[in-house]
Amino acid sequence: MVAETRLSVHDLIWPVFVHEGAGNVAVDALPGVERFSIEGLVEAAREAYDLGIPAIALFPVVPAEKKNDDASEASNPHSLICTAIAAVKETVPGIGVIADVALDPYTPHGHDGIVEHGDVVNDATLAVLCKQAVTLAKAGADIVAPSDMMDGRVAAIRDALDDEGFENTPILAYTAKYASALYGPFRDAVGSRTSLGKADKRSYQMNPANSREAVAEAELDISEGADMLMVKPGTYYLDIISKLRDVCSLPVLAYHVSGEYAMVKLAAEKGLFDGDSVMMEALISMKRAGAQAILTYAARDVARLLKA
Ligand code: PBG
Repeated sequence: MVAETRLSVHDLIWPVFVHEGAGNVAVDALPGVERFSIEGLVEAAREAYDLGIPAIALFPVVPAEKKNDDASEASNPHSLICTAIAAVKETVPGIGVIADVALDPYTPHGHDGIVEHGDVVNDATLAVLCKQAVTLAKAGADIVAPSDMMDGRVAAIRDALDDEGFENTPILAYTAKYASALYGPFRDAVGSRTSLGKADKRSYQMNPANSREAVAEAELDISEGADMLMVKPGTYYLDIISKLRDVCSLPVLAYHVSGEYAMVKLAAEKGLFDGDSVMMEALISMKRAGAQAILTYAARDVARLLKA
């Protein structure tokens, strides 16, 4: 009766992996998570829609031979991700499809941008991201979500989308994306961990020691035309969610990332605690901090629990 915060299925966004192969394949690093075939993805999207989950966020597993330094596959209209978006929108039009804008699935080094002389180059990357965003919108993506953290990308992508007639495609900006070690299992799932090797993304992702800087990032994204802001990871950065919620009027979303999910699942497998309860507690903590929606690999499981 007196709960200030409630978790509902409407708060959930389900990140899902899609691969080129036939059949769904379990991701070892993420118990309960699969790489879906296109067919499996469509089935999963239908189930998610029937459960009331408003949107899925798609991530492609791209074979090594399609990766190159220009990330040209990122703007191929016949790519896996474009085929996947079109298949979902054709069969389950009611579910929102969020498509990631970043080059890491498409580059052999696993960085989110174009690399020259060993460094990610911001401005050369922007042009490629713009092409990628337009390609995703043309394929039918309802929302594009730049996760690359280049400076100026929201404005550049907004202009590119508007020029191509996609004025109504919103941008979900990964506003405060920290250079976190918690992305490890995700990188296993999409196969970018070995490409990245010992390199890190600290030249473009944020320093975990900083919170005021997140406000600066939010101000930039808002002024550039973002429609929604995201904080990532989620539970380790509750103060950032809360801060952005206080100082910005745009919706703030949180991403409960792969490492946060995996810790709960693996500890539960060891019998340390009840996994469902801890997962719920993690999600409600982000909601309490101010997140209006939460990306979580547990979305389908949690939606089933909420319904039961
Ligand atoms: C890359 C991207 C990453 C995640 C989402 N998009 C990894 C990274 O920045 O290396 C991580 C998500 C997760 O860990 O669940 N653009």
